[in-house]
Order: sequence, then C-alpha cells, then structure tokens
Amino acid sequence: MILVAGGTGRLGTLVVGRLLDQGLDVRVLTRTHDRADHLGPKVDVMIGDVRDPDSVRRAVAACDVVVSAVHGFAGPHGNSPSSIDRDANASLTDATKSAGADFVLMSGVGAASSSPIELFRMKWAAEQYAASSGVPTTIIRATAFMELWIDILRKTATRSGRPLVFGHGDNPINFVSVADVAALVERAVTDHATRGEILEIGGPDDLTFNQLANAVQTADQRDRPPRHVPPLILRLMTATVGRLKPELGRQASAALVMDRDDFAFDSTAVHARFPWLASTSITDALAQVAHRPSAGKEPTSTAKAPGRHSVGTD
Ligand SMILES: NC(=O)c1ccc[n+]([C@@H]2O[C@H](COP(=O)([O-])OP(=O)(O)OC[C@H]3O[C@@H](n4cnc5c(N)ncnc54)[C@H](OP(=O)(O)O)[C@@H]3O)[C@@H](O)[C@H]2O)c1
Repeated sequence: MILVAGGTGRLGTLVVGRLLDQGLDVRVLTRTHDRADHLGPKVDVMIGDVRDPDSVRRAVAACDVVVSAVHGFAGPHGNSPSSIDRDANASLTDATKSAGADFVLMSGVGAASSSPIELFRMKWAAEQYAASSGVPTTIIRATAFMELWIDILRKTATRSGRPLVFGHGDNPINFVSVADVAALVERAVTDHATRGEILEIGGPDDLTFNQLANAVQTADQRDRPPRHVPPLILRLMTATVGRLKPELGRQASAALVMDRDDFAFDSTAVHARFPWLASTSITDALAQVAHRPSAGKEPTSTAKAPGRHSVGTD
C-alpha cells in the first residue's frame, strides 16, 4: 500500500493516477470526502488532518511507501509552512519510521535554512528531519509548477482580459510541468535506488512572469499586456493585511522575493540521470491546460470508493 498525503492536490492527483496505473494499492489522506471524489473508486480514502499525529499514524499503518505532497503555504485555518511543511512532515516521518516504510518527500528547489521564503525554510527543516531519522527517504525538489501559474494568470484575466503579475515581472523563473514532476515521484516510489538522494527537477524554460503572461494571452487569443501589482503595494500588504491573514502576507512576501532573487534553474542533471523523463515546455503545457479541468474540479466519479475511513479524532 502506498499512502499519498496530499493525494487530492494538483501533483498528488497525477501521482495517484500513475501509481494506480501500475496496479499498486493507493491510499490518500484528505480533510474532506469531496476533495477525493475525482480520484475514482480504486483509491482507499482516509479522512484526517496531517497536523493530527493520530490521523497520520493510522493513515500510514500497513503502508510500504509514504509520499508527502502536502503544503501549508496557502493556509488558511492554522495551515501554514510551519504547521504543515515542517511539523506535519515530521509527524509523517515518525509514523513512516514506526511502520518500517520508505518516505518520498516533496520539497522545493531553493529549500534552505537561510531562504527569505518561509516555505523554503520549513521544507528544509522537513528535509533535515527526514534525512536524520533513519527512514529510507527520497527528497524531490521541484521548481514552480507551470500549470499553477498558468491557472492563476488565466483566472486573474477573466474580468479585465489582462492577467495580473505580482511585482515588475521581469525576473527569470524556472517553471516545470507538474506532469513531469509526477513521473519522477512515481519513479521515486518504486525505485529504492533513489533512497538517500535529493532529486531536483525543473523545466526547460526560465521565463519572466511578463513573458509567461504574454504566452497565456497568446494561447487565449488575447493581446493586451498584463496588469501589475507594484512591489510597494506588495510590501504594504505584508505589513497590513498580512498581519490579519498570514497566508496573504506570505504570498505577498514570496512574490517580492520571486520578483528579485535568482529563480533560474538548469535541469540537465535530472535528465541525465533519468533520460526517459519528459521536459514539457510552457507551449505544450499551455495547449494541454486549455482543455484540462483543475485537480479539485475534475469530473466527480459516480462510483463509491471501497473504503472511506475517518482517522481524525476517533
Ligand atoms: N505548486 C508548486 O509550484 C510547487 C513547487 C514545488 C514543490 N511543490 C510541492 O509539491 C507538493 C504538491 O503541491 P501542489 O501544488 O500539488 O499542492 P495543492 O494542489 O495545493 O494540494 C495540497 C494538498 O495538501 C493537502 N493538505 C493541505 N493541508 C492539509 C492538512 N492539514 N491535512 C491533510 N492534507 C492537507 C490537501 O489535501 P485536502 O485539501 O484534500 O485535505 C491537498 O491534497 C507540495 O509538497 C508542494 O510544496 C509545489
């Protein structure tokens, strides 16, 4: 049995599909039934919260491999990088150790104790915890998921016809397709030779947000330039609304860093190691995303899942 914590999300959904296609038994841990409907009847759905160690222990029980594809960047309600990316991942590591299973941890390129982005500091803490736990662990660090940013740019263009870029938008950033990341996660689950490794994956394109926004516009047959949230407003957001809604403060603060620091990436190493791994371009992803509903909104399966268990509080 493979547990995918975060199996309902953008990446997790693709990972679950790939593992099922391999004929493996898959369990997901999610906070609400509805979030797992699109995964279909073969998935063992457990209801629980990764912040609750009992939930985690029960979800991990009898599993051979545990995949962590959760994050707390977007909040809300007590979800945060410290509660999810650091502490819940530590909980998952402990439970994985007790179960004698292997661990595959999703992290981000740039994870470091000194990162100006809280999420990356918490991912680094999770990496350190897993690496020193004795649990056979593969860490996968990915750059920004291009499909997420294409969706954000498209959504913000809905009314005005002009996507919204946070900051100046002229800093090159590496974008990777979530489909390529899912292929690497599947490999990590099944390939014990990757234990003890940190695999870093990026895509073929370093693009500025202005370039990405223009590519989205072209794909959608629009030609108006993007709108911008100036850095000054982002700074004000971190100091004002960010105090009341920490997730908004985190997003504004991360946007400022992404507008300024080095987010380029050379993905040669991972493709030399796994030559079969696809390297999807922004152009190809734009063509695919145009026709694909987002993970949480995929068609609801009418079939009933074989097992839905609550692991939250009982
Ligand atoms: N997005 C990116 O650009 C990017 C880049 C590099 C690395 N990553 C990493 O890749 C992984 C997947 O990211 P994603 O963008 O695919 O995520 P996503 O679509 O936002 O999904 C997040 C997942 O986390 C789960 N989750 C969050 N809080 C939870 C809680 N308290 N209890 C149980 N489950 C919880 C959600 O489950 P429910 O809502 O069903 O409960 C959901 O399945 C994450 O580890 C992320 O840090 C992402």
